[in-house]
Amino acid sequence: MSNKTQLSGFATRAIHGGYKADETCARGIAIHPTAAYHFQSCSSAANLFNLTEAGNIYTRITNPTNADFENRVASLYGAKGALAVSSGMAAIHLVVTSLTNAGGNIVASPYLYGGTYNLFRITLKNLGIDCRIAKDDSIASFEELIDSNTTLIYGESMGNPTCDVLDLEALGQLAAKYELPLVIDNTFGGCGYLCNPFDWGAHIVIESATKWINGHGTAIGGVIVDNGSYDWGNKKYPQINGANEGYHGLNLWESFADAAFIVKCRVDGLRDFGCSPSPFDAYLHLIGLETLPLRLDHQVASTRRLAEFCRQSPQVKSVSYVGFKEHRSYPNAQKYFRGGASGVLNIELNSDLEGTVRFVEALKLCANMVMIGDSVTVVTHPASTTHKQLSKEDLIQAGVTPSLLRISLGLEDVKDIEEDFKQAFGKI
Ligand SMILES: Cc1ncc(COP(=O)(O)O)c(C=O)c1O
Repeated sequence: MSNKTQLSGFATRAIHGGYKADETCARGIAIHPTAAYHFQSCSSAANLFNLTEAGNIYTRITNPTNADFENRVASLYGAKGALAVSSGMAAIHLVVTSLTNAGGNIVASPYLYGGTYNLFRITLKNLGIDCRIAKDDSIASFEELIDSNTTLIYGESMGNPTCDVLDLEALGQLAAKYELPLVIDNTFGGCGYLCNPFDWGAHIVIESATKWINGHGTAIGGVIVDNGSYDWGNKKYPQINGANEGYHGLNLWESFADAAFIVKCRVDGLRDFGCSPSPFDAYLHLIGLETLPLRLDHQVASTRRLAEFCRQSPQVKSVSYVGFKEHRSYPNAQKYFRGGASGVLNIELNSDLEGTVRFVEALKLCANMVMIGDSVTVVTHPASTTHKQLSKEDLIQAGVTPSLLRISLGLEDVKDIEEDFKQAFGKI
């Protein structure tokens, strides 16, 4: 395909976005397993180190395969730029610490992935960053925590595991009111296919590429995406619009304009934290992206069908599925998510801890793992896995009962998943 072709539809961009044929004309994207790169000359090397010349120095900072992945992700989001990192957690860590120094604070949604919650409440707190968790997802709850030391507003477009959907448009307006960047973890939004937070006022999106982007459970990865809409020239962030100590006083905003934030995360963040992805993993994510819309269509449809099946099953006490009107986030899901749903549902069995464990262990096709967005259907038992460390009180607070199960639909025929559930129901 010519690089000049106008790219439009999501599925087209999933295959062609960010693609630049190299001199070999190979259809497949090349994996560049290299740590370092030859310099053309010492003066060229000096320019590369001063950020006055574009090019590769060392794979901790840039790699051509990683760049192909970054360009494709940016194309799918219709964004200015993207940065590939080694995990979703690395992406969150890098974004927060690129914008927040000790003494600063961030304001976050209460519906967060457990790992993010721990990062915010323990690790970042110990680094002097105050992570303020809103008491609920109302705009007032976010607003009352914002003060002059707040550096960003943070949330998950669809929270893991409850599938609560934030009012992204209202949060975008709140962020605009306080001139703060709105950072959204869009892991459930499938690289913009189900949900694109940039359409609603988000400035930075992060995603765990490990999940639907990769889609086959073959690698860990993360991405940071910037649509270039935040005005870093507003003097609130001297680390972007100010003299950069690590680069002889270079001002990233003046040098890179609306690409400055991604440059900051790369040249300071990846350089210092070292959370760069392996080019082989970036390649696996790129292969995953090619089929992302096809997979998500299948998984979203299967999730609805399994939710309806569970609702009819006497062994199931309750079904929490965001595509059902009873779910508290149904209106937001309708507004912000294609088809008003995702590939995840939660159920509670009509049983106790032992019966639930017997059900999970009797499943033959579904995998007992902690994973979402895989091609394999995954049934996770939070009480014995993700939430095992929590006290009884915290379990109640998190809504994790002994018989709760989180299900992430894979790519199998959903009737086979129903059969697997039926035979396992018999073992409860
Ligand atoms: C919503 C969300 N964000 C971030 C992460 C962390 O991603 P990773 O496991 O790639 O570090 C996860 C992991 O499950 C997640 O579900």
